[in-house]
Amino acid sequence: MRLVVLGAAGGIGQPLSLLLKTRLPPGFELALYDLAPVTPGVAVDLSHIPTDVLVEGYAGEDPTPALRGADVVIIPAGVARKPGMDRSDLFKFNAGVIKNLVRHCAQVCPDAMLAIITNPVNSIIPIAAEVLQQAGVYNPRKLFGITTLDVLRAETFVARAMKCRAGSLTVPVIGGHSGTTILPLFSQVVGQHFSHDELLEMTRHVQNAGTDVVNAKAGGGSATLAMAQAGLRFCMSLVHARQGEPGIVEYAYVEGGSPHARFFAQAVRLGVNGIEEVMDYGTLSALEQDELTSMLPTLREEIELGVKFVQQG
Ligand code: NAD
Ligand code: LMR
Repeated sequence: MRLVVLGAAGGIGQPLSLLLKTRLPPGFELALYDLAPVTPGVAVDLSHIPTDVLVEGYAGEDPTPALRGADVVIIPAGVARKPGMDRSDLFKFNAGVIKNLVRHCAQVCPDAMLAIITNPVNSIIPIAAEVLQQAGVYNPRKLFGITTLDVLRAETFVARAMKCRAGSLTVPVIGGHSGTTILPLFSQVVGQHFSHDELLEMTRHVQNAGTDVVNAKAGGGSATLAMAQAGLRFCMSLVHARQGEPGIVEYAYVEGGSPHARFFAQAVRLGVNGIEEVMDYGTLSALEQDELTSMLPTLREEIELGVKFVQQG
């Protein structure tokens, strides 16, 4: 199997590639592509780590050689936020980047699973879907917007608050990946007895966590290391599902028949060919229902922005 990272020389791309080199099963090919000329060097660097994963690096304008034969493509290519910016401020630049890269995927590896990290995720995934649709190769079961970092954050924060072992609790996170569209369902955490105010505070903490990192990095970019870990988790789930392991569930922003919006982050059961089942997110508390109702217009607008970007050329 072949996994390709587009944007592999960046803040997320490099640590993600390192994690993949050390964690992918033996026999895997890992292809790194980025505009940046350093990319073949990143591949040479990683190739000295003793695992049976073959690493190749490609730089320049054309991702085609990297994409040939791809089974999974993960995309962190594009610009990141600086303090004072919103994720939507990245649309102007990143929309064109993703349109171009996904066009190449449609031509070179139309059957691959595409997992996109690039912001603003809420608008970028609709762009990818429209590009694939125009190329006649769109399979909604194989296109994912990565929201795993929201899940990691929610699980980390709630475990800390409940004084549990890190990683021992699971939290569904639904909706999208910007501001209030990120909706953690803390009411579903087993054994939680938080007050309304505590639940609201933890919800805002998850929603603002990306901005907290941007501000703390003070102009040096946004989350990269925790995102690399989140990207690894998502890729490994895709890989294991593709290898036939049953019962693998991840949260992702997908076109999956949600009654709320064309694209919606929710739990998906993964299989050999991508999404096998979009899972029900269960019962919402009154607080969560209010949060969902008030964020839906934003989510729908952000989706429309991406769709129009492609449809209006
Ligand atoms: P970065 O600037 O450090 O790296 C981006 C890389 O993309 C650079 O190496 C750049 O050369 C490359 N690139 C740009 N245009 C390209 C193109 N057309 N083809 C190939 N490569 C190209 O940024 P980063 O910190 O790695 O963040 C990348 C993206 O991920 C940003 O949009 C950021 O907002 C987003 N992000 C998303 C999440 C999430 O949860 N989904 C989390 C963190 C960051
Ligand atoms: C995050 O949640 O950390 C990412 O979306 C990056 C950002 O700009 O906040």
